[in-house]
Amino acid sequence: MSDKMPLATQVGSHLNIRSIADGSLIVKSCLAGEKDFYTLLTPSEHFARLRPFIPRFLGVLRSKGSVEPNGRGEMRLDKVTQIVNGGRRESIILENLVFPFKRPNIIDIKLGTVFWNKNMSPEKRERMEKTARETTSLETGIRLTEFQVWDPTAQTMVMVPKSYGKSIAASELPAGVKRFIPTGSVPLRLLERIIERITHDVRRIRDAVQATEMRMIGGSLLIIWEGDSETLEKAFEAWDERAAEDEDEDDNGSCDNTTGGSTIKKPQKLGPPSLVKLVDFAQTQFAPGEGPDEGVLLGLKTTLDLLDGRLKEIREAAA
Ligand SMILES: Nc1ncnc2c1ncn2[C@@H]1O[C@H](COP(=O)(O)OP(=O)(O)OP(=O)(O)O)[C@@H](O)[C@H]1O
Ligand SMILES: [Mg+2]
Repeated sequence: MSDKMPLATQVGSHLNIRSIADGSLIVKSCLAGEKDFYTLLTPSEHFARLRPFIPRFLGVLRSKGSVEPNGRGEMRLDKVTQIVNGGRRESIILENLVFPFKRPNIIDIKLGTVFWNKNMSPEKRERMEKTARETTSLETGIRLTEFQVWDPTAQTMVMVPKSYGKSIAASELPAGVKRFIPTGSVPLRLLERIIERITHDVRRIRDAVQATEMRMIGGSLLIIWEGDSETLEKAFEAWDERAAEDEDEDDNGSCDNTTGGSTIKKPQKLGPPSLVKLVDFAQTQFAPGEGPDEGVLLGLKTTLDLLDGRLKEIREAAA
């Protein structure tokens, strides 16, 4: 039993996702579309720009418990061979993005304006269009889904359900972001840095999406940041040191390799201050000749505007 546990820090109750072994990996029971994305699309040159922003894929877990590694010899078989996959679906094995954090603040932001595909019935398409129209999705390209935020005073994780993001108007999105990045939890100067860092990553993701011909239906931007003040401070110190060490090799002087790279170079056991990735690729497809996904791009722009607004508020509060 201990080798296959529900993802403890996972936002919401996704019964199809389990953390395994020491918690560094997750097993997600998925539809064929998502398996195809990881096995066929991600390795292709068309998705090269996006690869750094996608969870590391380690292999497919077949329904009888055998593992098909990802072909790059990265699968630590000892960690997963004992798993008995009860369901009929296949599962994918991914890095657990939350693993390096002590108190992970996590938000899942659903991207895009279109949530239907050609295979859906007219009724389902109409339902999907209605949801997009009646939520912030159509207007802004994002919908806040569930999120969790560490409250250091109460020493508890505050959970905000999907229904919140579904019910709010576009004008209330800044209030939502404020709940995810509240003042009072960590010092203002760290909040300022964390927003700058997240913004930097979201810009890089936007540029990669802009350069990729795809349709990403129902995918999300997952933002994670360290909610434990002391750990966050140490994580920044460690990353600053690393950035200084890397300066010679890294001509722009940033420490991007720590957030976007396919291998997370974490200093000893300390995680990064934050991590931003794209997740949920059940309905992501290569769209040759069709250009980038404009709905997803709109959502990333909205996210950048919201982060900018929150940064201004934090700077004013700090002044
Ligand atoms: N690689 C990962 N590491 C850590 N947490 C993850 C990872 N992938 C997904 N999660 C967590 O699980 C949640 C659900 O993931 P995902 O959207 O891929 O699953 P899903 O079953 O397709 O969910 P839904 O249909 O509700 O969108 C995410 O919001 C995130 O909190
Ligand atoms: Mg999802």
